[in-house]
Amino acid sequence: MNAAGAASRVPTSAQQGPHDQLTALIARRTGHPFRRPAAAYSAEAFSVFQAFCAPGEALIIDSCCGTGESTRHLAESHPRHKVVGVDQSAHRLSRAPAMPPNGLLLRADMVDVWQLMHAQGYRPDAQYMLYPNPWPKIGHVARRWPAHPVFPTVLALGGRIECRSNWRIYVEEFALAVRLLTGREASVWSFVPDPVLTPFERKYTASGHTLFRCVVDA
Ligand SMILES: C[S@@+](CC[C@H](N)C(=O)[O-])C[C@H]1O[C@@H](n2cnc3c(N)ncnc32)[C@H](O)[C@@H]1O
Repeated sequence: MNAAGAASRVPTSAQQGPHDQLTALIARRTGHPFRRPAAAYSAEAFSVFQAFCAPGEALIIDSCCGTGESTRHLAESHPRHKVVGVDQSAHRLSRAPAMPPNGLLLRADMVDVWQLMHAQGYRPDAQYMLYPNPWPKIGHVARRWPAHPVFPTVLALGGRIECRSNWRIYVEEFALAVRLLTGREASVWSFVPDPVLTPFERKYTASGHTLFRCVVDA
């Protein structure tokens, strides 16, 4: 249920499974690394990141962390890691809880942060992609992270990468993109979160949604 007591909805889409152009889209981009100059606000945030954590330090990334609830949880449960949550929404981040000393929240575009991390030699032990915006319209496929041109960079950063969604097709596309780009097996599982890590996870659980995840060791 949301704050108004209404149930949230599972995304509806004309797609019945992974987008039928996803394989071709990924194949077309092979050999053409994605490079886009970082936005000024992302570059500024990244200098804070660099001051907080050096390449080679044990690191966990919470991509599109929203209010940062999951970032705090991950920082508390991984005290030997630096945990960095990144979201582009100042509004969501304004509702963030206090972070422990090994946690940091930044406002930046993940596309920039992934590229900057890779260029500067960061190799996180784990990356979380919790309930990314689903963009369920067929024509919006390239806005989903698995179909985005930056996705090979996300995989190249490596570590244990976990994607969660209440839209099964999103996680299926994540698994398909992982298989295509790395040759590794990747499967989709339904699960019951314990503990609940994020506000979206809480909302979907309260609405009775089945949740899906894919975990890959990249
Ligand atoms: C559905 S919310 C999920 C937030 C949080 N992970 C949770 O589960 O509660 C998706 C989040 O992705 C963020 N987001 C979308 N595109 C982004 C980007 N390019 N860079 C950083 N954050 C982004 C949005 O601001 C939003 O907070």
